[in-house]
Amino acid sequence: MAETYAHITGWGMAVPERILTNAELTQMVDTSDEWIRSRTGIGTRHIAENGQTTASLATEAAINALRVANLSPPDVDMIIVSTSTPEHIFPATACLVQERIGAVNAGAFDLLAACTGFIYAVNMGAQAIRSGSIQNAVVIGAETLSRIVNWEDRNTCVLFGDGAGAFVLQASDQPGGVLSAVLRSDGSGSGLLSVPAGGSAHPIDEQAIADKQHYIQMNGREVFRFATRVMASATREAVEKANLLIDDIQLIIPHQANQRIIDSAAKQLKLPPERIVTTVEDYGNTSTASIPIATCEAIADGRLQPGDNIVLVGFGAGLTWGAAVAEWSGPFPYERKVRFSLYRLLSRIWSFLQRIRRRFEGIIWDTEDDK
Ligand code: UT7
Repeated sequence: MAETYAHITGWGMAVPERILTNAELTQMVDTSDEWIRSRTGIGTRHIAENGQTTASLATEAAINALRVANLSPPDVDMIIVSTSTPEHIFPATACLVQERIGAVNAGAFDLLAACTGFIYAVNMGAQAIRSGSIQNAVVIGAETLSRIVNWEDRNTCVLFGDGAGAFVLQASDQPGGVLSAVLRSDGSGSGLLSVPAGGSAHPIDEQAIADKQHYIQMNGREVFRFATRVMASATREAVEKANLLIDDIQLIIPHQANQRIIDSAAKQLKLPPERIVTTVEDYGNTSTASIPIATCEAIADGRLQPGDNIVLVGFGAGLTWGAAVAEWSGPFPYERKVRFSLYRLLSRIWSFLQRIRRRFEGIIWDTEDDK
């Protein structure tokens, strides 16, 4: 049987319009534009408005990615949303995206590997395609970190931003697409970066709120040291696993947490700045969304062409880290025009009909129970 490959055929992003500048942050906490820029490289970040959520950003990014791939929503077999700021504890944010885009034939689930999550999600989607069990997947990294940031804590509030990015992965017998991945974790560092309250270990109560345990807590210095250690090594491992050399890689797209971490990885890999994508200045750290957002920016700048080899590499809470190598594909040629607004309308009608069906089913069941 011919081998199946998982190609990246669509990409899209979505960020809120509201931009929060370093100057504005100096009115909120004891910080300065000079400190934030010199220690992190961040200039601005996007912050979700009221009513904007992880699911709404994820939906917008997914539709943009499907539009590039020219793939109709009912053809999507699997939706994975990587996020640390899900819409609810459950149901999965991916199910809300499934309904909103009209992917009526898709399985949908969330995945949590913090800032490394998008690499995990790409690998899971690609593995499902390579195994032959599905044809098309949408993988999304989406966050509204502004909702779990303590805006009185200068150690964290200057770092994070909101946004979403998505890839469409599609099966093909043509070689290329996702070539390798390494996924790693070290739970002994779980306390270095976490939101302690709100889960089964520590449900939110008045004390948790008073102690601000429902917000991000981070030992920045330790996370920084860990990040500079793993970024280059994960890149090397993934490149070797793909049977390539670092010189064969046209572009590295790293997790955008801190310009100094990216520079350190580039130095260890002996790579010049033009082979590394950085967007941290404009978006801050959008966690799992940062790699797909940076990919979209690189494409918009004409830095990524079909046939290029790329590395996605990241690290984050868990601790987790990982890297994936892909040969960039671009969209498959289809002679059709998908009308996404029509699918969204049909999806709303379909959902409405499903709710009515459930109501009638309930009435019939209750009547039968009464007999
Ligand atoms: O996606 C993964 C998420 N996490 C990360 O990527 C974080 C990785 N870590 C980092 O990026 C860096 O460690 C930080 C940017 C968080 C901090 O930079 P640093 O160079 O490691 O600073 P530091 O923590 O060693 O703090 C140096 C000083 C401290 O003051 P003292 O104790 O030396 O007097 C901090 O209190 O800087 C102070 N500081 C600030 N000053 C002005 C911390 N935050 C701020 C701030 N403005 N916003």
